[in-house]
Amino acid sequence: MIEISDEEVNSLTAAIMKRHGIDFTCYEPKSLKRRVLRAMTVFKLTSIHELWIKILKEVDFVHPFINELSVGLTSMFRDPTFWLSLSKSLPTIVAEKGRINVWHAGCSTGEEVYTMNILIHELGLEGKVRSFASDMNTEALAQAKSGGYHILKLAEYEHNYKKFNERGSLSSYYKKEDKFGFMDSSLITNVRFEMSNLITDTNPNKYDIIFCRNVMIYFDSGAKRLVLDKFYQNLKPGGLLIIGFFDALVPIIDKEKFEFYDLNQKIFRRIN
Ligand SMILES: C[S@@+](CC[C@H](N)C(=O)[O-])C[C@H]1O[C@@H](n2cnc3c(N)ncnc32)[C@H](O)[C@@H]1O
Repeated sequence: MIEISDEEVNSLTAAIMKRHGIDFTCYEPKSLKRRVLRAMTVFKLTSIHELWIKILKEVDFVHPFINELSVGLTSMFRDPTFWLSLSKSLPTIVAEKGRINVWHAGCSTGEEVYTMNILIHELGLEGKVRSFASDMNTEALAQAKSGGYHILKLAEYEHNYKKFNERGSLSSYYKKEDKFGFMDSSLITNVRFEMSNLITDTNPNKYDIIFCRNVMIYFDSGAKRLVLDKFYQNLKPGGLLIIGFFDALVPIIDKEKFEFYDLNQKIFRRIN
């Protein structure tokens, strides 16, 4: 079994930052080490030295490696109770504002984006929501844009969807082609997908809702504070920040900037 020390992980992240400008230095060390080890297995590397050489010398290796480090578990209608609750509050939010801007920060392979847009469709709110979906993983973003998911995954998502809407069927939103189902592209005509790093990049736009679910879980507390500060700037006064059920952010959130909107559903509101 390959072993790597904390010092080796630290110098690796420092090299990636210095050489390629991609910041992994503020990720939670234990989970980063697990991910580095998993990526090494995927790329069949047997020592940290081999990995080191590839990072320094093979420009084409860096992006696939980073994609592997940031592979994220996601699913459609993840936490169905959350989506049920959002379906109750969204019509009022949209009615108050007329139109809203939404940012899916860390959208991974797009399941959260399709879920939101199915919800928007079922609530009859099409044309009133404009969305931006970003991730630093280029492969994940490409899949999000293509909307193609393996039928086994879609079967799992159907199960979640039924908990959200027992009378509908997720299968009405995709077409099967061989072992894949392709989501109806009309679902994402309001979405702009873009590669962006939450830690190193800045986004000048303002949003009514920011989703950042199950992303900051990997960040150390300095990075969490930095990104929360950016989200504060990116939210319109009264705008909502939605985090994941397991994102341990409650103790870190600045109570002068955010208040609880719905603690059960992990929704915070920007104080004016
Ligand atoms: C577990 S997935 C979450 C997907 C979706 N939000 C959900 O809850 O189902 C985490 C995603 O965060 C992305 N991510 C991690 N660090 C990031 C960063 N610094 N900038 C942008 N995206 C990041 C990963 O690439 C991954 O796709």
